[in-house]
Amino acid sequence: MEFAHTSVLLEETIEGLAIKPDGIYVDGTLGGAGHSSHIAARLRTGRLIGIDQDAEAIEAATKRLEPWQEHVTLVRDNYCNLPAVLNSLGIDKVDGIMLDLGVSSYQLDNAERGFSYRYDTALDMRMDQRQTLTAKTIVNEWSQAELFRCIRDYGEDKFAQNIAKHIVQAREKKPIETTGELNDIIRAAIPAKMREKGGHPSKRTFQAIRIACNRELEVLENSLDAFIDRLAPGGRLCIITFHSLEDRIVKNAFRRNENPCTCPPEFPVCVCGKTSRGHVVTRKPILPTEEEMETNSRAKSAKLRIFEKIES
Ligand SMILES: C[S@@+](CC[C@H](N)C(=O)[O-])C[C@H]1O[C@@H](n2cnc3c(N)ncnc32)[C@H](O)[C@@H]1O
Repeated sequence: MEFAHTSVLLEETIEGLAIKPDGIYVDGTLGGAGHSSHIAARLRTGRLIGIDQDAEAIEAATKRLEPWQEHVTLVRDNYCNLPAVLNSLGIDKVDGIMLDLGVSSYQLDNAERGFSYRYDTALDMRMDQRQTLTAKTIVNEWSQAELFRCIRDYGEDKFAQNIAKHIVQAREKKPIETTGELNDIIRAAIPAKMREKGGHPSKRTFQAIRIACNRELEVLENSLDAFIDRLAPGGRLCIITFHSLEDRIVKNAFRRNENPCTCPPEFPVCVCGKTSRGHVVTRKPILPTEEEMETNSRAKSAKLRIFEKIES
């Protein structure tokens, strides 16, 4: 299957990275190297480190980045391990890091990966197929309370309680094996007149289970401070998010790094000693143009935020 994926906010991200031809850049969510190929093309003596936890993404990116292979190092890993990856390559600081979060269209469209409610296939949803936790384990083994919290918090589905209840009732009869079975259970848990409102009835629950299966929010939250640590002065961190939960984590981490002072506001001078690590370049997130949203439906919810490390 061909690795088809249209990069979101491509020009805006490349511009946001302010690429220097001799700089070192990291793409922590390489995918098919849509963004990375544009980074690599701008390098002369610089270097690109591409990370993805999905073996098929690494394979596709290796082919796409072939013209620039002497400038490129690809690593199959979780981006949360970036500090260790840089250490293993003998690199201290980098000039730019980017993340384009979530799954690629290739992962979604590849029925076997079990990410999509559009195909009837085994419940899987792992980005890293070496991982043992799958969507099937979550659906069949998590308690009703855990499923409820997952669907409510990560899917923001107002029928989370009922969906969790229906999942538990269904699996008492037989294990839930496929995306098709899960679709039927979700459908039955949502009142008929509400089912088609806001897209496919399974959209939110599938998003929630995918986020939980890949620990997406936890990984993001735990990575951003370390990324900023590894930026050289003036280095840029560009992050594209696709839903409010991710965007909130990025926005808060950027603000906290811009102004980390924890002194009570009534203190005349700072005594906590925590000083700014840089500034938020994007007071408001950069959104795709109308044209991009029309031509690429994945772009509709995308937001790009940029942070710049302090010069000195
Ligand atoms: C939206 S796609 C990236 C597409 C890419 N920017 C392009 O234009 O071709 C996201 C990719 O990031 C990977 N990914 C998501 N979270 C990751 C993580 N925590 N660590 C490593 N890779 C991750 C996924 O496997 C997927 O291939």
